[in-house]
Amino acid sequence: MEQTRISAKEARPAIEAIDRLVFERDGYLVLPDFVSAADCAALRKRAMELVEEFSPGPVLSLFSTTEQSRTTDEYFLGSGDKIRFFFEPHCVAADGTLRVPKHLSVNKIGHALHDLDPVFAEFSRRPTLAAVAAMLGLQAPLLLQSMYIFKAPGGGGEVVSHQDATFLYTEPLTTLGLWFALEDATIENGCLWVLPSGQHCKLKQRFVRTPEGGTTMRMLDEEPYAEAAMVPLQVRQGTLVVLHGLMPHRSSENRSRRSRHAYSLHLVDAHAHYPADNWLQRSPSLPARGFAPLP
Ligand code: FE2
Repeated sequence: MEQTRISAKEARPAIEAIDRLVFERDGYLVLPDFVSAADCAALRKRAMELVEEFSPGPVLSLFSTTEQSRTTDEYFLGSGDKIRFFFEPHCVAADGTLRVPKHLSVNKIGHALHDLDPVFAEFSRRPTLAAVAAMLGLQAPLLLQSMYIFKAPGGGGEVVSHQDATFLYTEPLTTLGLWFALEDATIENGCLWVLPSGQHCKLKQRFVRTPEGGTTMRMLDEEPYAEAAMVPLQVRQGTLVVLHGLMPHRSSENRSRRSRHAYSLHLVDAHAHYPADNWLQRSPSLPARGFAPLP
């Protein structure tokens, strides 16, 4: 039986801890006890159900190599308004079968859980999150992207250093990341690392669609981040980490025996321009929406 580690009192959303001046100074906020243990468990349970219900079949062949192919591109590029499953390449054999059980092979689910799955939709549109977005300056927040990240024990994949605005770019820059620790995150199991005040770095790259139907990384600024100055954010289950869209961040491979499940939401402001060459495009039938419930 899993131990409940935080009390009901602590589990109250910590809205009052949000300090916009600290966010503007540091480029990130760490808000412990933002999500209750029960809600963390409910999201983990739902993600496991989704994995259990998913039949990977031919999809697995896309991950049997790290080489980018046209079908891999299509599966990824079409995922902006769908629920799709992405697997750890090292868990998929050359014949397209899994070396380890499905729930230990999946890297993440993306990218429209917040619109298409009732459990994640309810969580993602809570008034407390709307309040966070408003307090941090978004005037017309759009819930653009969601990801459930598994970071499985014994090899859950590294995420190399990046800025979220590389992938979700607006003019002006309005990208805001909300990262929920659904389990304790430590150095051993692959917690986030950030560069304090790194939001003052220029945007280094943009990941864009090409006219040929693929993707490319367009270099904007060659000066590297001060990677050595990055600090680990070891946080307890239930913590919300808020990231400025220019904040360099990364996470290491999970070398421990404990998973590090997390859910992330990325918001942009509807008043900003969203370029047509951003990789993530929503179909007109399922446009990105704000926090208001559907009529
Ligand atoms: Fe990120």
